[in-house]
Amino acid sequence: MKTNINLQPYNSFGFSATAKFFVEINAIDDLLRLIKTPEFTAEKHLILSGGNNILFTDDFFDGIILLMNNKGIDIIHEDEGDVIVRAQAGEDWPEFVKRMVDRGLYGVENLAHIPGKVGAAPVQNIGAYGMELKDSFLQCQAMDLTTGQIHIFTNEACRFGYRESIFKHELKGQYIIISVDFQLSKQGELKLEYGNIKAYLEQNGIPTPTLQQLHDAICAIRSAKLPDVKQIGSAGSFFKNPVIPSEQFEALQRQYPEIPHYPDAEGMVKVPAGWLIEHSGPTDTVSWKGWRDEHVGVYEKQALVLVHYGGGQGQDIVALARKIQNTVEEKFGIRITPEVNFVP
Ligand code: EPU
Repeated sequence: MKTNINLQPYNSFGFSATAKFFVEINAIDDLLRLIKTPEFTAEKHLILSGGNNILFTDDFFDGIILLMNNKGIDIIHEDEGDVIVRAQAGEDWPEFVKRMVDRGLYGVENLAHIPGKVGAAPVQNIGAYGMELKDSFLQCQAMDLTTGQIHIFTNEACRFGYRESIFKHELKGQYIIISVDFQLSKQGELKLEYGNIKAYLEQNGIPTPTLQQLHDAICAIRSAKLPDVKQIGSAGSFFKNPVIPSEQFEALQRQYPEIPHYPDAEGMVKVPAGWLIEHSGPTDTVSWKGWRDEHVGVYEKQALVLVHYGGGQGQDIVALARKIQNTVEEKFGIRITPEVNFVP
């Protein structure tokens, strides 16, 4: 176990924070050894995967950081139509998606280019362009960090919701995901309906794309709209898109007829937080979109993304996020909530 490790390279916001203890997990045996140590029993712990959805709000983490780094992608079942693939938690997510697409397997292509690791994907039920992880998730293997036993969590047991799962709530910190099994298909129908995918494909002369072409298109759309975390610190979408009752939405729509929206559960409407943020700001005449407050700001191409230009601290993002929440609430009567996990 290492001590006093700077976590800056391990969080995509790029904030400096020192971890009291830090341990890299390459195999199940590493975990079994770790959970028997006196440090593990005495200290709190935090499971870190790619660090793409985390905000260190303090400059010291008083506990143990567990970095998942176990590797391996294997086919565990194959028939004429379907393939079950097991990916270890420490595998890079976008690389995994690319490999599945290269093999002609359908089921995760719209989740291309999302930074992170396989083990974090179910925790957050990552989603993009009309697809969510839960659509191809068969089950995962996770270790109970008290007993060292491995449990299997089926799709249903994970209680997936919009950017939600049981691992973010009831079982937070209790289990560590070791590997994930995906149910993929050799034939599939591509999902092109969402957002600007169709428009992009038509503009590029590929209205009926192959699996590979769709994958590449999604990578291109995302690169154009989201910052490259190697250059500008960010954690992707900072807030969730709020879901509000239809009556509240209709009142809002009378005032702002152009407000984008998506149907959600019965009687509810999803409103893009990016639009709400773009249409509010630090003053009545200035938009948050592209706003910069010294070291941190709101990304100029996507208002849902908060960015760290360097030299700042997690608290700078916390302060900016609060101001945004308050101004959005004052103007639209909707309290947007963070998608990113805050580490105190
Ligand atoms: N919009 C604005 N201004 C902005 C940003 C967005 O008006 O600055 C409007 C757009 O015009 C559009 C709508 O908001 O009508 C939706 O925008 P977009 O398609 O960019 O998607 P999003 O709702 O902002 C969600 C996910 C993304 C995912 C995209 C594409 C959440 C919190 N975010 O963003 O996920 O990539 O859809 O499917 O659900 C992530 O979770 O980190 C992430 C990037």
